[in-house]
Amino acid sequence: MRRFRAPMLLVAAAAALLPACSAGSPSALHPQGPAAQRIDGLWWFMFWIALGVFAVVIGMLLFGLFRRRKGGESVARGGGEKAVVLLGIVAPAIILTTLFIVSMRDLNAISAPAKSNALTLNVIGHDWWWEVRYPQQHVVTANEIHIPTGKPVLLHLSTADVIHSFWVPQLSEKTDMIPGKTNRMLIQADHPGIYRGQCAEFCGLEHARMSFLVIAESPSQFQSWVTTQSQPPAPPAGSAAQGRRVFLHSTCVSCHAIQGTKASATDGPDLTHFGSRRTIAANTLPNTPGNLSAWIEDPQGIKPGALMPPAVVEPRQLQALVTYLEGLK
Ligand code: CUA
Repeated sequence: MRRFRAPMLLVAAAAALLPACSAGSPSALHPQGPAAQRIDGLWWFMFWIALGVFAVVIGMLLFGLFRRRKGGESVARGGGEKAVVLLGIVAPAIILTTLFIVSMRDLNAISAPAKSNALTLNVIGHDWWWEVRYPQQHVVTANEIHIPTGKPVLLHLSTADVIHSFWVPQLSEKTDMIPGKTNRMLIQADHPGIYRGQCAEFCGLEHARMSFLVIAESPSQFQSWVTTQSQPPAPPAGSAAQGRRVFLHSTCVSCHAIQGTKASATDGPDLTHFGSRRTIAANTLPNTPGNLSAWIEDPQGIKPGALMPPAVVEPRQLQALVTYLEGLK
């Protein structure tokens, strides 16, 4: 049985990788922006070189085996030494130097400084969600980053607690968010679309559910999004107004902010335009009233370890609260 284990593992690994390579997945091999295109190009360059090396090694192995089977000396002495020098020293030196030069060239290209008029965002990693601030536009959101297409966007990446890593495989390289330091990175999307991002540095229990969406829109759509997001939401009416009272008299206000109300805490995501977001709890659930009720009642049941405590509210109050939050467009 043991001798079959390695090939079986390889087949299983290949089967697991196949869905990840299908179109539309957040794969670095489906680049949608200039930096990701460079990374993709470098990946394929390395892949073909590695494949060439693999083919030569396997070819020589088979050649050796074949010659041995036929009987006779396995390696001719004089030729053998030359082959060792050529294939064991000269060829690896050339290949590794080439890879080093090409990697440095690409690293340099994607680290180019941003133009001074680039849109600048602050993205702050938290256990386990993403705070997103547009300082010039006075917009604060969470777990969703809207950007205009075709323009480089400068990100200032920092953390509120431990080390996280910002990664949108289809748009950018990974950049760590390190306590006490702000890292800079450019992202750019060439086409409108929704690109999934993921924390790429193990940061605790819910690292896997620390995900986000980059929503790339045409510049005019982006501008209208900014206009809406920079205003307080419309005042609630009916059941939503009751929901607002529930919100303001509950423990929600100790962590969350909603513009236009007295809630201004910053420990949890800003909820000013919560109803306009696609997901809840850092891309853990689609943002629907049912999912939101479940989340408010029992965050730990959905995302064990999440820092949000369960809210103690009666069913009718919960319903009003959900109506209010979902109405914050
Ligand atoms: Cu944050 Cu992993």
